[in-house]
Amino acid sequence: MVDSSEDKQKILQQIQAILNQNTPLLPDSTLHDFVEANFRKGRQILHTIGGHLTPCYLFEPGIVIARAKTFKRAFQQNLPDTGFYFAMKSNNFLDVSKTILGCGFGLDVSSGAELETALELGADDIVFSGPGKTAQELDIAVVNHKKVVVLMDSLSEMKRLEKRAARIGKNIRAGVRLTTEPHGLWRKFGILKEDLQSFINESKRYGHIRLQGIQFHSSWNMGPERQIAFIKELGQTLASLTPEEREIIKFIDIGGGYWPEQGEWLQPGGTPQGVLRNAVFSASSALSLDGLSSSSSAAYPHYLNASTSIETFARELSSAICEHIQSLISCKICFEPGRLICNDSMHIILKVMDKKYDDLVITDGGTNAVGWERFETDYCPILNISRPAMTERECLITGSLCTPHDLWGYSYWGKEIHEGDLLMIPEQGAYTYSLRQNFIKALPQVISFP
Ligand SMILES: Cc1ncc(COP(=O)(O)O)c(C=O)c1O
Repeated sequence: MVDSSEDKQKILQQIQAILNQNTPLLPDSTLHDFVEANFRKGRQILHTIGGHLTPCYLFEPGIVIARAKTFKRAFQQNLPDTGFYFAMKSNNFLDVSKTILGCGFGLDVSSGAELETALELGADDIVFSGPGKTAQELDIAVVNHKKVVVLMDSLSEMKRLEKRAARIGKNIRAGVRLTTEPHGLWRKFGILKEDLQSFINESKRYGHIRLQGIQFHSSWNMGPERQIAFIKELGQTLASLTPEEREIIKFIDIGGGYWPEQGEWLQPGGTPQGVLRNAVFSASSALSLDGLSSSSSAAYPHYLNASTSIETFARELSSAICEHIQSLISCKICFEPGRLICNDSMHIILKVMDKKYDDLVITDGGTNAVGWERFETDYCPILNISRPAMTERECLITGSLCTPHDLWGYSYWGKEIHEGDLLMIPEQGAYTYSLRQNFIKALPQVISFP
């Protein structure tokens, strides 16, 4: 609620600051290299699947293996004792988890359903995190106590876990999640770090709980700065514990959230300025104000929110861990990467069903395949692998769902576009397949691509 002219002034200044920011452009050379490499892949895809199996997700297990190896190597070079857990929620296609288990990773699950799947896959090193775990979910963990560590989300959850464990007389290994942001929506996760000491002491009253560690997680890290800031705070919290309290901590799990090195590629509408412009446009049209127009999708540039290599993440995080944590306790450091492991391993393949105009086509699949309207804000190049060319052409590429938000993009790369052409949207493996929706159109099948 804006109730004073001072408040209004502040908001206007903030708006101006956002509008003054310049989101960097995606360099042409980066985009060209990406498109060229994927046209090469597209040729093999055409050869392997032909045009008969669209829409589909194409899964490349080799990419999961490569990313897993790089991730492990980066941290193992810097830290003596490490554990790696793939966050299943980022892509719950079974072969992704199967592949990563073969790379010496465990699994990070966030529900009873994911936990059961992990157990069925033969995982024997599982961390179970997430808020609001039910009695049934805790029971699965307790029954499988040799394979599962429960990362508790609250004091109340610890009480419930004790009750479930006591019921069948089993001890359960556990950790506690600390919240990294005490305000806003992220505060729903974990407990405040100020409450850690009393939590540890309370845990001693529970005969079946073996509290052994601490977890924290922050999402969407383009670099390690936020994680480092929390590691520093955690170090201060650990320093305030007694030696006996510190002694119980055998692992610290620093979660996931490592953005892939290529960074985030944005449509104009995905930049902070674009989001603001669109919000003002929606408000002005709701209020029937004249003189404002939405950001146009025509002749638009592509933007880059840059990220950092995993080697840099590993070097800087490890150095912070050594300085602030391992100077106080020697413990195992665990990781829960999701996006970084699976993002590049899945591609979406579509067929053009209907060419209405030169600048408007409809594909056989809809964006229920990814479950959200990502392409209005994220720039994901669409390659016409039936007519490759290193030229980007403006064209509204839409899916076949009965909603105007069913949009794949505003352009394609290729010579031309015609009915029957196959389109590839590379690197759609993170938070897409897991979010797919059984909405109007059938869900695409997955084809594994060696
Ligand atoms: C607790 C926890 N760990 C790990 C992850 C995986 O994060 P990312 O896929 O960004 O690496 C998430 C994602 O939300 C999470 O909530």
